[in-house]
Amino acid sequence: MTDLFFANTYSPLSSQEIIAKEKANMDAPRFAHCVRVSQTAQKLARLNHYDEDKAALAGFVHDYAKQVPVSEYREVIKTQGFDQDLLNWNRAIWHGIVGTYFIKRDLQITDSEILTAVDRHTTGDVEMTTLDKIVFMADFIEPGRDFPGVEEARQVTFANLDAGVGYQLAHSLSFLAEKRNKIYPRTFKAYNVWSIKDN
Ligand SMILES: [Fe+2]
Ligand SMILES: [Fe+2]
Repeated sequence: MTDLFFANTYSPLSSQEIIAKEKANMDAPRFAHCVRVSQTAQKLARLNHYDEDKAALAGFVHDYAKQVPVSEYREVIKTQGFDQDLLNWNRAIWHGIVGTYFIKRDLQITDSEILTAVDRHTTGDVEMTTLDKIVFMADFIEPGRDFPGVEEARQVTFANLDAGVGYQLAHSLSFLAEKRNKIYPRTFKAYNVWSIKDN
């Protein structure tokens, strides 16, 4: 954990304050995942000529609100101007889209690129910036991930970030359909943009 440091370019809080707040907001395994996503995001930024510090911070905070209580989420969705359809979904979706509210409130990060990357990290989207793709893929391939195909996902992503996005969306859609889980519409739309091969 010693190599974690964020210049306070994106928040008036110090690196230590951000780390302490994040640690207090989640259990230890989730925190360790966020550290690995931060490191993987930094690596992907280097490979894709993007700002490494910004990617490291966005990766670190991506799951900041993953363990916020459901009741608190429902209250925020009702009172803070979010799409009321979100009430029909769950924390798997909320912690990206609505997670941005808690990141702004608690970590005082207002940078729209970082917030958008968090917003899109669970669902993907039709339009994705380089940072969106970096966080989306770092979350999927960080070294702690272990699922059939993860090695291929890593190879694809390190070779070509866009191809990685296509790989993950196809993988997630199949996985959710296999379990007969509900699929967020934005994920379908994203799949049609990023995953389709010309044939
Ligand atoms: Fe997440
Ligand atoms: Fe995550």
